[in-house]
Amino acid sequence: MKISFAKPALPITGVAVVTATAGAKLSASGQKLDKKSGGALTRAIKASRFEGNKAHNLNVMAPAGTRLDRVLIVGLGKVKDVNELEMQKLGGRIYANTQRVKKGSVTVAIDAVTDAKMNTQEMAAQIAYGARLRSYRFDKYKTKQKESEKPSIKSITVQCAGFATARTRFAGLSKIADGVFFTRDLVSEPANIIYPDSLAKKAKSLEKLGVKVEVLTEARMRKLGMGALLGVGQGSERESRMVVMQWNGGPKKTAEKSKGKTKAEGPIAFVGKGVTFDTGGISIKPSAGMEDMKWDMGGAGVVIGLMKALAGRKAKVNAVGVVGLVENMPSGTAQRPGDIVTSMSGQTIEVLNTDAEGRLVLADALWYCNERFKPKFMVNLATLTGAIIVALADQYAGLFSNNDRLSERLSKAGAEVEEQLWRMPLTSAFDKMINSDAADMKNIGGRGGGSITAAQFLQRFVGKTPWAHLDIAGVTWSKKDSPTIPKGGTAFGVRLLDRLVANNYEGK
Ligand code: BES
Ligand code: MN
Ligand code: ZN
Repeated sequence: MKISFAKPALPITGVAVVTATAGAKLSASGQKLDKKSGGALTRAIKASRFEGNKAHNLNVMAPAGTRLDRVLIVGLGKVKDVNELEMQKLGGRIYANTQRVKKGSVTVAIDAVTDAKMNTQEMAAQIAYGARLRSYRFDKYKTKQKESEKPSIKSITVQCAGFATARTRFAGLSKIADGVFFTRDLVSEPANIIYPDSLAKKAKSLEKLGVKVEVLTEARMRKLGMGALLGVGQGSERESRMVVMQWNGGPKKTAEKSKGKTKAEGPIAFVGKGVTFDTGGISIKPSAGMEDMKWDMGGAGVVIGLMKALAGRKAKVNAVGVVGLVENMPSGTAQRPGDIVTSMSGQTIEVLNTDAEGRLVLADALWYCNERFKPKFMVNLATLTGAIIVALADQYAGLFSNNDRLSERLSKAGAEVEEQLWRMPLTSAFDKMINSDAADMKNIGGRGGGSITAAQFLQRFVGKTPWAHLDIAGVTWSKKDSPTIPKGGTAFGVRLLDRLVANNYEGK
Protein backbone atom coordinates (compact mmCIF):
# COMPACT_ATOMS: atom_id res chain seq x y z
CA MET A 1 0.00 0.00 0.00
CA LYS A 2 1.29 3.38 -1.00
CA ILE A 3 0.80 6.34 1.32
CA SER A 4 1.14 9.82 -0.13
CA PHE A 5 0.20 13.40 0.60
CA ALA A 6 -1.46 15.98 -1.60
CA LYS A 7 -3.08 19.38 -1.51
CA PRO A 8 -6.80 19.59 -0.78
CA ALA A 9 -9.03 18.89 -3.78
CA LEU A 10 -12.46 17.35 -4.06
CA PRO A 11 -11.98 13.56 -4.45
CA ILE A 12 -13.50 12.31 -7.72
CA THR A 13 -13.35 8.49 -7.63
CA GLY A 14 -12.69 5.66 -5.20
CA VAL A 15 -13.39 6.14 -1.51
CA ALA A 16 -13.30 9.54 0.14
CA VAL A 17 -12.81 9.90 3.87
CA VAL A 18 -13.91 13.08 5.62
CA THR A 19 -14.04 13.99 9.26
CA ALA A 20 -16.76 15.22 11.57
CA THR A 21 -16.49 16.51 15.12
CA ALA A 22 -18.82 15.94 18.06
CA GLY A 23 -22.35 17.00 17.24
CA ALA A 24 -21.84 15.48 13.78
CA LYS A 25 -20.33 18.71 12.47
CA LEU A 26 -18.86 17.99 9.06
CA SER A 27 -15.41 19.31 8.20
CA ALA A 28 -14.96 21.87 5.40
CA SER A 29 -14.21 19.10 2.90
CA GLY A 30 -17.19 17.14 4.19
CA GLN A 31 -19.44 20.11 3.60
CA LYS A 32 -18.15 20.50 0.05
CA LEU A 33 -18.88 16.86 -0.72
CA ASP A 34 -22.27 17.22 0.90
CA LYS A 35 -23.08 20.10 -1.41
CA LYS A 36 -21.80 18.23 -4.45
CA SER A 37 -24.02 15.26 -3.59
CA GLY A 38 -27.12 17.34 -3.02
CA GLY A 39 -27.04 16.84 0.74
CA ALA A 40 -26.47 13.07 0.72
CA LEU A 41 -24.07 13.26 3.66
CA THR A 42 -26.28 15.31 5.94
CA ARG A 43 -29.25 13.09 5.07
CA ALA A 44 -27.22 9.98 5.92
CA ILE A 45 -26.17 11.53 9.22
CA LYS A 46 -29.79 12.38 10.07
CA ALA A 47 -30.87 8.84 9.20
CA SER A 48 -28.28 7.30 11.51
CA ARG A 49 -27.06 7.50 15.08
CA PHE A 50 -23.71 8.93 14.00
CA GLU A 51 -22.76 11.87 16.22
CA GLY A 52 -19.14 12.46 15.24
CA ASN A 53 -17.80 10.79 18.37
CA LYS A 54 -14.33 9.34 18.30
CA ALA A 55 -14.07 5.77 17.03
CA HIS A 56 -17.47 6.10 15.35
CA ASN A 57 -17.98 6.27 11.62
CA LEU A 58 -20.61 6.31 8.94
CA ASN A 59 -20.51 4.90 5.41
CA VAL A 60 -22.41 6.66 2.66
CA MET A 61 -22.44 4.39 -0.39
CA ALA A 62 -22.30 5.79 -3.94
CA PRO A 63 -23.61 9.28 -3.16
CA ALA A 64 -25.63 10.75 -6.02
CA GLY A 65 -24.06 13.57 -8.00
CA THR A 66 -20.55 12.10 -7.55
CA ARG A 67 -18.56 9.24 -9.08
CA LEU A 68 -17.36 8.13 -5.65
CA ASP A 69 -17.86 4.52 -4.52
CA ARG A 70 -18.26 5.63 -0.97
CA VAL A 71 -17.81 8.46 1.47
CA LEU A 72 -16.60 7.35 4.88
CA ILE A 73 -17.32 9.93 7.57
CA VAL A 74 -15.06 9.40 10.58
CA GLY A 75 -15.69 10.90 14.00
CA LEU A 76 -12.93 12.98 15.60
CA GLY A 77 -14.91 13.51 18.80
CA LYS A 78 -14.30 16.55 20.94
CA VAL A 79 -11.48 19.02 20.36
CA LYS A 80 -9.48 17.44 23.21
CA ASP A 81 -9.71 14.06 21.47
CA VAL A 82 -7.55 15.40 18.66
CA ASN A 83 -4.18 14.22 19.90
CA GLU A 84 -1.29 12.10 18.69
CA LEU A 85 -2.55 8.71 19.88
CA GLU A 86 -6.14 9.30 18.81
CA MET A 87 -5.04 10.37 15.34
CA GLN A 88 -2.92 7.22 15.00
CA LYS A 89 -5.89 5.11 16.05
CA LEU A 90 -8.10 6.97 13.61
CA GLY A 91 -5.64 6.18 10.83
CA GLY A 92 -5.67 2.53 11.87
CA ARG A 93 -9.46 2.44 11.80
CA ILE A 94 -9.56 4.14 8.40
CA TYR A 95 -7.24 1.44 7.08
CA ALA A 96 -9.31 -1.36 8.64
CA ASN A 97 -12.49 0.12 7.15
CA THR A 98 -11.15 0.63 3.66
CA GLN A 99 -8.71 -2.25 3.11
CA ARG A 100 -11.27 -4.05 0.95
CA VAL A 101 -12.27 -1.11 -1.24
CA LYS A 102 -13.31 -1.97 -4.76
CA LYS A 103 -11.09 0.39 -6.75
CA GLY A 104 -8.10 0.42 -4.42
CA SER A 105 -7.74 4.15 -3.93
CA VAL A 106 -8.64 5.99 -0.74
CA THR A 107 -8.45 9.75 -0.30
CA VAL A 108 -8.50 11.15 3.22
CA ALA A 109 -9.32 14.85 3.49
CA ILE A 110 -7.95 16.42 6.67
CA ASP A 111 -9.12 19.89 7.62
CA ALA A 112 -8.02 22.04 10.51
CA VAL A 113 -9.89 21.59 13.78
CA THR A 114 -10.41 24.91 15.55
CA ASP A 115 -8.65 25.11 18.95
CA ALA A 116 -7.09 21.65 18.61
CA LYS A 117 -3.65 21.04 20.15
CA MET A 118 -2.39 19.74 16.81
CA ASN A 119 -2.03 21.44 13.49
CA THR A 120 -3.43 19.94 10.32
CA GLN A 121 -0.09 18.65 9.03
CA GLU A 122 0.65 16.80 12.27
CA MET A 123 -2.86 15.32 12.25
CA ALA A 124 -2.36 14.14 8.68
CA ALA A 125 1.05 12.60 9.43
CA GLN A 126 -0.19 10.76 12.54
CA ILE A 127 -3.24 9.43 10.68
CA ALA A 128 -0.96 8.13 7.93
CA TYR A 129 1.36 6.55 10.52
CA GLY A 130 -1.57 4.80 12.21
CA ALA A 131 -2.81 3.48 8.88
CA ARG A 132 0.66 2.18 8.06
CA LEU A 133 0.99 0.46 11.45
CA ARG A 134 -2.38 -1.25 11.01
CA SER A 135 -1.57 -2.42 7.48
CA TYR A 136 0.98 -5.00 8.69
CA ARG A 137 0.31 -8.57 7.53
CA PHE A 138 2.22 -11.79 7.94
CA ASP A 139 0.83 -14.01 5.21
CA LYS A 140 3.93 -15.21 3.38
CA TYR A 141 3.16 -18.86 4.12
CA LYS A 142 -0.40 -18.72 2.82
CA THR A 143 -0.09 -20.04 -0.72
CA LYS A 144 -3.78 -20.48 -1.44
CA GLN A 145 -5.15 -17.06 -0.56
CA LYS A 146 -7.85 -15.90 -2.96
CA GLU A 147 -7.62 -12.35 -4.29
CA SER A 148 -10.85 -11.61 -2.43
CA GLU A 149 -9.19 -12.54 0.86
CA LYS A 150 -6.31 -10.11 0.43
CA PRO A 151 -6.62 -6.39 1.06
CA SER A 152 -7.48 -4.63 -2.19
CA ILE A 153 -6.43 -1.18 -1.03
CA LYS A 154 -3.61 0.14 -3.19
CA SER A 155 -3.13 3.69 -2.01
CA ILE A 156 -4.05 6.16 0.67
CA THR A 157 -3.70 9.82 -0.24
CA VAL A 158 -3.90 12.19 2.67
CA GLN A 159 -4.93 15.66 1.63
CA CYS A 160 -4.15 18.67 3.76
CA ALA A 161 -2.99 22.26 3.52
CA GLY A 162 0.82 22.44 3.67
CA PHE A 163 1.03 18.77 2.70
CA ALA A 164 4.82 18.84 2.18
CA THR A 165 5.28 19.35 5.94
CA ALA A 166 3.05 16.37 6.65
CA ARG A 167 4.98 14.28 4.14
CA THR A 168 8.33 15.07 5.81
CA ARG A 169 6.93 14.32 9.25
CA PHE A 170 5.49 11.03 8.05
CA ALA A 171 8.83 10.03 6.52
CA GLY A 172 10.38 10.08 10.02
CA LEU A 173 7.46 8.20 11.58
CA SER A 174 7.62 5.67 8.78
CA LYS A 175 11.16 4.71 9.84
CA ILE A 176 9.79 3.77 13.25
CA ALA A 177 7.11 1.72 11.51
CA ASP A 178 9.87 -0.02 9.52
CA GLY A 179 11.45 -1.07 12.84
CA VAL A 180 8.07 -2.20 14.19
CA PHE A 181 7.42 -4.28 11.06
CA PHE A 182 10.86 -5.87 11.24
CA THR A 183 10.21 -6.93 14.84
CA ARG A 184 6.74 -8.23 13.96
CA ASP A 185 8.24 -10.31 11.15
CA LEU A 186 10.87 -11.79 13.44
CA VAL A 187 8.43 -12.83 16.16
CA SER A 188 5.92 -14.18 13.64
CA GLU A 189 8.39 -16.49 11.89
CA PRO A 190 8.30 -20.05 13.20
CA ALA A 191 11.26 -21.61 15.00
CA ASN A 192 12.27 -23.83 12.07
CA ILE A 193 13.01 -20.64 10.15
CA ILE A 194 14.25 -18.36 12.95
CA TYR A 195 16.94 -20.03 15.06
CA PRO A 196 20.03 -18.40 16.57
CA ASP A 197 22.17 -18.29 13.45
CA SER A 198 19.36 -17.27 11.09
CA LEU A 199 18.24 -14.57 13.52
CA ALA A 200 21.83 -13.32 13.71
CA LYS A 201 21.80 -13.08 9.90
CA LYS A 202 18.60 -11.00 10.03
CA ALA A 203 20.38 -8.65 12.43
CA LYS A 204 23.34 -8.53 10.03
CA SER A 205 21.04 -7.02 7.41
CA LEU A 206 21.06 -3.79 9.45
CA GLU A 207 24.59 -3.18 8.20
CA LYS A 208 23.15 -1.61 5.07
CA LEU A 209 21.66 1.11 7.28
CA GLY A 210 25.05 1.85 8.82
CA VAL A 211 24.72 -0.31 11.94
CA LYS A 212 27.91 -2.13 12.95
CA VAL A 213 26.98 -5.77 13.58
CA GLU A 214 29.17 -8.44 15.18
CA VAL A 215 28.15 -12.06 15.66
CA LEU A 216 29.78 -14.04 18.46
CA THR A 217 30.01 -17.80 17.89
CA GLU A 218 29.87 -20.47 20.58
CA ALA A 219 33.65 -20.81 20.48
CA ARG A 220 34.03 -17.09 21.12
CA MET A 221 31.47 -17.13 23.93
CA ARG A 222 33.21 -20.11 25.52
CA LYS A 223 36.46 -18.13 25.57
CA LEU A 224 34.63 -15.26 27.21
CA GLY A 225 33.32 -17.65 29.86
CA MET A 226 29.60 -17.36 29.10
CA GLY A 227 28.69 -20.60 30.82
CA ALA A 228 25.17 -19.48 31.74
CA LEU A 229 24.08 -18.72 28.17
CA LEU A 230 25.90 -21.70 26.67
CA GLY A 231 24.31 -24.10 29.16
CA VAL A 232 20.85 -23.18 27.88
CA GLY A 233 21.80 -23.84 24.26
CA GLN A 234 23.77 -27.04 24.83
CA GLY A 235 20.80 -29.34 24.25
CA SER A 236 20.07 -27.91 20.80
CA GLU A 237 21.41 -28.94 17.40
CA ARG A 238 21.44 -25.22 16.60
CA GLU A 239 24.51 -23.32 17.76
CA SER A 240 23.96 -20.38 20.09
CA ARG A 241 24.90 -16.85 19.07
CA MET A 242 25.29 -13.40 20.54
CA VAL A 243 24.81 -10.37 18.34
CA VAL A 244 26.24 -6.95 19.10
CA MET A 245 24.84 -4.02 17.15
CA GLN A 246 26.19 -0.48 17.32
CA TRP A 247 24.51 2.62 15.96
CA ASN A 248 26.81 5.62 16.30
CA GLY A 249 24.68 8.57 15.31
CA GLY A 250 25.72 10.69 18.28
CA PRO A 251 28.86 12.62 19.12
CA LYS A 252 32.18 10.76 18.89
CA LYS A 253 33.38 9.29 22.16
CA THR A 254 35.19 11.93 24.16
CA ALA A 255 37.52 10.32 26.65
CA GLU A 256 38.54 13.22 28.85
CA LYS A 257 41.19 12.59 31.39
CA SER A 258 40.68 14.81 34.38
CA LYS A 259 42.66 14.32 37.58
CA GLY A 260 43.68 10.83 36.63
CA LYS A 261 40.10 9.71 36.21
CA THR A 262 38.83 8.77 32.75
CA LYS A 263 35.46 10.27 32.02
CA ALA A 264 34.07 8.72 28.89
CA GLU A 265 30.60 9.19 27.52
CA GLY A 266 29.29 5.65 27.18
CA PRO A 267 26.53 4.68 24.77
CA ILE A 268 23.03 3.75 25.84
CA ALA A 269 22.41 0.01 25.69
CA PHE A 270 19.54 -2.35 24.98
CA VAL A 271 19.73 -6.06 25.71
CA GLY A 272 17.28 -8.72 24.55
CA LYS A 273 16.35 -12.29 25.43
CA GLY A 274 16.42 -14.29 22.23
CA VAL A 275 15.25 -17.81 22.98
CA THR A 276 14.24 -18.81 19.46
CA PHE A 277 12.23 -21.69 20.90
CA ASP A 278 11.61 -22.53 24.54
CA THR A 279 10.52 -26.12 25.11
CA GLY A 280 11.51 -25.73 28.75
CA GLY A 281 14.39 -28.15 28.19
CA ILE A 282 14.49 -31.18 30.51
CA SER A 283 12.00 -29.33 32.77
CA ILE A 284 9.79 -29.62 29.71
CA LYS A 285 6.65 -27.55 29.23
CA PRO A 286 3.19 -29.08 28.70
CA SER A 287 2.39 -29.45 24.99
CA ALA A 288 -0.73 -27.24 24.99
CA GLY A 289 0.26 -23.77 23.85
CA MET A 290 3.92 -24.63 23.47
CA GLU A 291 3.82 -23.18 19.95
CA ASP A 292 3.72 -19.74 21.57
CA MET A 293 7.32 -20.26 22.56
CA LYS A 294 8.40 -19.39 19.01
CA TRP A 295 8.07 -15.78 20.19
CA ASP A 296 10.29 -16.28 23.21
CA MET A 297 12.85 -14.27 21.22
CA GLY A 298 10.53 -11.25 21.45
CA GLY A 299 12.97 -9.20 23.55
CA ALA A 300 15.74 -9.73 21.00
CA GLY A 301 13.26 -8.96 18.22
CA VAL A 302 12.47 -5.60 19.82
CA VAL A 303 16.14 -4.71 20.25
CA ILE A 304 16.84 -5.51 16.59
CA GLY A 305 13.75 -3.59 15.39
CA LEU A 306 14.68 -0.66 17.62
CA MET A 307 18.19 -0.51 16.13
CA LYS A 308 16.56 -0.51 12.70
CA ALA A 309 14.28 2.38 13.68
CA LEU A 310 17.13 4.41 15.21
CA ALA A 311 19.40 3.88 12.23
CA GLY A 312 16.55 4.41 9.77
CA ARG A 313 15.72 7.82 11.16
CA LYS A 314 19.40 8.59 11.81
CA ALA A 315 18.89 9.21 15.52
CA LYS A 316 21.53 11.48 17.04
CA VAL A 317 22.57 8.96 19.64
CA ASN A 318 25.15 6.27 20.28
CA ALA A 319 23.21 3.10 20.99
CA VAL A 320 24.27 -0.50 21.48
CA GLY A 321 22.02 -3.54 21.08
CA VAL A 322 23.06 -6.92 22.47
CA VAL A 323 20.95 -10.04 21.98
CA GLY A 324 21.59 -13.51 23.38
CA LEU A 325 20.29 -16.15 20.96
CA VAL A 326 19.71 -19.76 22.01
CA GLU A 327 17.29 -22.62 21.48
CA ASN A 328 16.16 -24.38 24.67
CA MET A 329 15.74 -28.06 23.83
CA PRO A 330 15.67 -31.35 25.75
CA SER A 331 18.16 -33.91 24.46
CA GLY A 332 21.01 -36.17 25.48
CA THR A 333 23.29 -33.16 25.66
CA ALA A 334 20.81 -30.89 27.41
CA GLN A 335 21.48 -29.23 30.72
CA ARG A 336 19.99 -31.14 33.71
CA PRO A 337 18.14 -29.74 36.72
CA GLY A 338 20.74 -29.39 39.44
CA ASP A 339 23.62 -28.57 37.07
CA ILE A 340 25.85 -25.76 38.27
CA VAL A 341 27.19 -23.34 35.65
CA THR A 342 29.69 -20.50 35.88
CA SER A 343 28.60 -17.25 34.30
CA MET A 344 30.92 -14.77 32.61
CA SER A 345 30.79 -12.69 35.79
CA GLY A 346 32.36 -15.58 37.69
CA GLN A 347 29.20 -16.06 39.75
CA THR A 348 27.96 -19.64 39.85
CA ILE A 349 24.34 -20.65 39.26
CA GLU A 350 22.51 -23.79 40.29
CA VAL A 351 20.02 -24.52 37.51
CA LEU A 352 17.09 -25.98 39.41
CA ASN A 353 14.64 -25.55 36.54
CA THR A 354 15.82 -25.60 32.93
CA ASP A 355 12.67 -23.69 31.95
CA ALA A 356 13.90 -20.60 33.82
CA GLU A 357 16.38 -20.13 30.96
CA GLY A 358 15.86 -16.53 29.89
CA ARG A 359 17.58 -15.13 32.98
CA LEU A 360 20.58 -17.40 32.29
CA VAL A 361 20.91 -15.98 28.79
CA LEU A 362 20.51 -12.41 30.00
CA ALA A 363 23.00 -12.90 32.85
CA ASP A 364 25.84 -13.24 30.37
CA ALA A 365 24.45 -10.75 27.84
CA LEU A 366 24.03 -8.03 30.49
CA TRP A 367 27.43 -8.68 32.04
CA TYR A 368 29.16 -8.65 28.66
CA CYS A 369 27.39 -5.46 27.58
CA ASN A 370 28.25 -3.68 30.80
CA GLU A 371 31.91 -4.77 30.82
CA ARG A 372 32.57 -3.95 27.20
CA PHE A 373 30.65 -0.71 26.71
CA LYS A 374 30.36 0.88 30.16
CA PRO A 375 26.96 2.18 29.03
CA LYS A 376 25.07 5.16 30.47
CA PHE A 377 22.28 2.72 31.19
CA MET A 378 21.04 -0.70 30.13
CA VAL A 379 17.44 -1.57 29.37
CA ASN A 380 16.76 -5.24 28.81
CA LEU A 381 13.59 -6.74 27.36
CA ALA A 382 12.47 -10.32 27.85
CA THR A 383 9.46 -12.57 27.63
CA LEU A 384 10.73 -13.71 30.99
CA THR A 385 7.92 -15.03 33.17
CA GLY A 386 4.39 -16.39 33.03
CA ALA A 387 3.94 -14.74 36.44
CA ILE A 388 3.96 -11.25 34.90
CA ILE A 389 0.91 -12.29 32.83
CA VAL A 390 -0.83 -13.34 36.04
CA ALA A 391 -0.04 -9.93 37.54
CA LEU A 392 -0.60 -7.53 34.63
CA ALA A 393 -2.34 -9.52 31.86
CA ASP A 394 -1.78 -7.93 28.45
CA GLN A 395 -2.26 -4.42 29.83
CA TYR A 396 1.19 -3.48 31.09
CA ALA A 397 4.71 -4.77 30.79
CA GLY A 398 6.47 -5.19 34.13
CA LEU A 399 9.15 -2.60 34.85
CA PHE A 400 11.93 -3.44 37.29
CA SER A 401 14.75 -1.00 37.88
CA ASN A 402 17.54 0.10 40.18
CA ASN A 403 17.13 3.72 39.06
CA ASP A 404 14.17 6.05 39.63
CA ARG A 405 15.09 8.54 36.93
CA LEU A 406 15.40 5.88 34.24
CA SER A 407 12.12 4.33 35.44
CA GLU A 408 10.30 7.63 35.20
CA ARG A 409 11.64 8.31 31.72
CA LEU A 410 10.59 4.85 30.58
CA SER A 411 7.12 5.15 32.11
CA LYS A 412 6.60 8.55 30.51
CA ALA A 413 7.71 7.32 27.08
CA GLY A 414 5.44 4.29 27.49
CA ALA A 415 2.42 6.42 28.32
CA GLU A 416 3.10 8.65 25.31
CA VAL A 417 3.05 5.77 22.84
CA GLU A 418 0.52 3.67 24.77
CA GLU A 419 2.96 0.89 25.57
CA GLN A 420 2.34 1.04 29.29
CA LEU A 421 4.71 -0.02 32.04
CA TRP A 422 3.93 -0.86 35.65
CA ARG A 423 6.79 -0.66 38.09
CA MET A 424 7.32 -3.65 40.35
CA PRO A 425 9.45 -3.84 43.49
CA LEU A 426 13.04 -5.00 43.92
CA THR A 427 14.29 -5.52 47.49
CA SER A 428 16.98 -7.44 49.34
CA ALA A 429 14.30 -9.70 50.84
CA PHE A 430 13.32 -10.83 47.32
CA ASP A 431 16.99 -11.10 46.44
CA LYS A 432 17.59 -13.58 49.27
CA MET A 433 14.98 -15.90 47.77
CA ILE A 434 17.43 -16.92 45.04
CA ASN A 435 20.34 -17.77 47.32
CA SER A 436 21.43 -21.37 46.76
CA ASP A 437 22.82 -23.97 49.15
CA ALA A 438 25.19 -25.28 46.52
CA ALA A 439 26.20 -22.23 44.42
CA ASP A 440 26.12 -18.42 44.51
CA MET A 441 22.50 -18.44 43.42
CA LYS A 442 19.76 -20.65 42.01
CA ASN A 443 17.74 -19.82 38.90
CA ILE A 444 14.31 -20.01 40.55
CA GLY A 445 12.82 -18.56 43.72
CA GLY A 446 9.99 -19.98 45.76
CA ARG A 447 6.29 -20.14 44.87
CA GLY A 448 5.52 -16.43 45.12
CA GLY A 449 6.79 -13.37 43.30
CA GLY A 450 8.03 -15.25 40.25
CA SER A 451 8.56 -12.15 38.11
CA ILE A 452 10.33 -10.33 40.92
CA THR A 453 12.77 -13.11 41.78
CA ALA A 454 13.56 -13.36 38.06
CA ALA A 455 14.33 -9.62 38.02
CA GLN A 456 16.43 -9.94 41.19
CA PHE A 457 18.43 -12.59 39.40
CA LEU A 458 19.15 -10.20 36.51
CA GLN A 459 20.11 -7.43 38.90
CA ARG A 460 23.02 -9.55 40.12
CA PHE A 461 24.61 -9.06 36.68
CA VAL A 462 24.36 -5.31 36.13
CA GLY A 463 26.71 -3.91 38.77
CA LYS A 464 25.97 -0.26 39.60
CA THR A 465 24.94 0.72 36.08
CA PRO A 466 21.48 2.28 35.86
CA TRP A 467 19.37 -0.58 34.57
CA ALA A 468 15.77 -1.47 33.83
CA HIS A 469 14.23 -4.81 32.93
CA LEU A 470 10.98 -4.93 30.97
CA ASP A 471 9.13 -8.24 31.33
CA ILE A 472 7.13 -8.29 28.09
CA ALA A 473 5.73 -11.85 28.29
CA GLY A 474 2.15 -10.54 28.41
CA VAL A 475 2.36 -7.91 25.70
CA THR A 476 4.51 -9.42 22.94
CA TRP A 477 1.73 -11.29 21.20
CA SER A 478 -1.88 -10.21 20.82
CA LYS A 479 -4.84 -12.47 20.11
CA LYS A 480 -7.06 -9.65 18.88
CA ASP A 481 -6.82 -6.65 16.58
CA SER A 482 -6.50 -3.17 18.03
CA PRO A 483 -6.56 0.05 16.00
CA THR A 484 -2.83 0.24 15.19
CA ILE A 485 -1.84 -3.37 15.98
CA PRO A 486 -3.24 -6.27 13.99
CA LYS A 487 -3.39 -9.50 15.98
CA GLY A 488 -0.07 -11.33 16.26
CA GLY A 489 3.30 -9.86 17.11
CA THR A 490 2.90 -6.41 18.62
CA ALA A 491 6.54 -5.21 18.64
CA PHE A 492 5.76 -3.72 22.07
CA GLY A 493 8.88 -1.83 23.09
CA VAL A 494 10.08 -0.50 19.75
CA ARG A 495 7.97 2.64 19.83
CA LEU A 496 8.49 3.02 23.57
CA LEU A 497 12.29 2.89 23.42
CA ASP A 498 12.46 4.99 20.28
CA ARG A 499 10.48 7.60 22.23
CA LEU A 500 12.74 7.22 25.28
CA VAL A 501 15.70 8.03 23.04
CA ALA A 502 13.97 10.91 21.25
CA ASN A 503 12.80 12.47 24.53
CA ASN A 504 16.07 12.26 26.44
CA TYR A 505 19.16 11.17 24.56
CA GLU A 506 19.44 13.03 21.30
CA GLY A 507 21.44 15.90 22.70
CA LYS A 508 18.93 18.68 23.04
N1 BES B 1 9.50 -17.98 28.19
C1 BES B 1 8.95 -18.34 29.44
C2 BES B 1 7.96 -17.30 29.98
C3 BES B 1 6.72 -17.09 29.18
C4 BES B 1 5.56 -17.74 29.50
C5 BES B 1 6.71 -16.19 28.13
C6 BES B 1 4.40 -17.53 28.76
C7 BES B 1 5.55 -15.97 27.40
C8 BES B 1 4.41 -16.64 27.72
C9 BES B 1 10.07 -18.53 30.46
O1 BES B 1 11.26 -19.00 29.95
C10 BES B 1 9.60 -19.52 31.45
O2 BES B 1 9.42 -20.65 31.09
N2 BES B 1 9.41 -19.07 32.69
C11 BES B 1 8.96 -19.93 33.73
C12 BES B 1 9.84 -19.68 34.93
C13 BES B 1 9.64 -20.68 36.03
C14 BES B 1 10.15 -22.06 35.61
C15 BES B 1 10.37 -20.21 37.27
C16 BES B 1 7.51 -19.56 34.02
O3 BES B 1 7.17 -18.39 33.97
O4 BES B 1 6.73 -20.48 34.26
MN1 MN C 1 11.34 -21.10 29.89
ZN1 ZN D 1 11.63 -18.61 27.97
